[in-house]
Amino acid sequence: MEKKITDVEMEVTMSKELFRRELSGFKPYVQGKPIGAVQREFGLDRIEKLASNENHFGASPKAVEAIREDLDNLLYYPESYPHNLMSELAEYLGVPKEQITIGSGGEGLLWQIALSFINDGDEIVTANPTFDVYRIATSLLGAVTVTVPLRGQGYDIDGMLAAVTDKTKLFFLCTPNNPTGHIATSKEIDRLVRALPEGVVLVLDEAYYDLAAVRADFPRDNIRIISERPNTIVLRTLSKTYGLAGVRFGYTISSPEIAQRLAMVGPLFKVNRLAIAGASGALKDTEYRDFYVRENAKAIDDLSAYVLAKGWSHFPTYTNFMWIDSGLDSEVLFNELQKRGVIIRAGYLWGEQWRTYFRISTGRPEQMQFFKDKLDEILAEW
Ligand SMILES: Cc1ncc(COP(=O)(O)O)c(C=O)c1O
Repeated sequence: MEKKITDVEMEVTMSKELFRRELSGFKPYVQGKPIGAVQREFGLDRIEKLASNENHFGASPKAVEAIREDLDNLLYYPESYPHNLMSELAEYLGVPKEQITIGSGGEGLLWQIALSFINDGDEIVTANPTFDVYRIATSLLGAVTVTVPLRGQGYDIDGMLAAVTDKTKLFFLCTPNNPTGHIATSKEIDRLVRALPEGVVLVLDEAYYDLAAVRADFPRDNIRIISERPNTIVLRTLSKTYGLAGVRFGYTISSPEIAQRLAMVGPLFKVNRLAIAGASGALKDTEYRDFYVRENAKAIDDLSAYVLAKGWSHFPTYTNFMWIDSGLDSEVLFNELQKRGVIIRAGYLWGEQWRTYFRISTGRPEQMQFFKDKLDEILAEW
């Protein structure tokens, strides 16, 4: 009898040895539902997705223009090492281009980092809650994730240092942190740099760098650590302040040796033509970056006042999102908001201890007003 496709699929699913053993029981990244799916499910006209820390003011106009100009060249492969863009990035950052590696967003670079360093049985140390891709990318290669809870509204640097063993390969510190928005202070960074064993690679994820850099207490020059402590990688992205999340472009700054290794792993073409063009345009658009940073600060101040007026609390944020403790069950709140066309990120996804928290990204004033109106509507009936 001819087998139906479903039977074949079943057999493949059942033969566990076929796949990497790390895939059994593997917990992938939980992405929010796409806008279209929510729209269809609830029959809504308007959806505001404030769940992925995107720049709702749009993409950098100079990036868009540069992408348009390259549309006639789509038949050509991109340069795997785009010389002009590397020089532009080097100038933008004030570091030699040999220290820069580009990738398919910060996320793509986190996979390159995992591929370059992780052997089966290695450990990584990071905080909880933090960006889940550190665990995802490394555990697929057989690493064990050791997480250390926050202390109050900041990192427990001593606790994180105490979690380092001779198996630790990578130490991920997200600053500002996603989902909380808090930072590692200069004192904490100094302590870490002094105490972390040389053989552990320190990864400083600065995806929200531009938003934090305007704040007096954010250490703006973590790149300098690389010259003192070569096993250090600083990661950044153009997804946030330049509004290019859909294009996928990020970069790391490291020692030339690490940069060379990071560039070796993964696909040959990590960054596509449009991302190369867009990145080049974006780097000339610091005016747009500064505009967004200002607009975001206004949205954060306004959101903070709204949250505090409700008697709720939030973590100090150096980003384009806020980690809010409403005291309410975030799963219920998420569902109620989703039904009304607002998508946020519920705290319980980071663990039961965060059940009363939720994360919301900033948006344009009318989007924030829509969120407030819907939330007030829900609270009136709660
Ligand atoms: C802390 C952190 N790191 C890295 C990334 C990856 O950003 P992208 O892949 O869009 O460059 C994100 C995205 O939300 C993030 O929040």
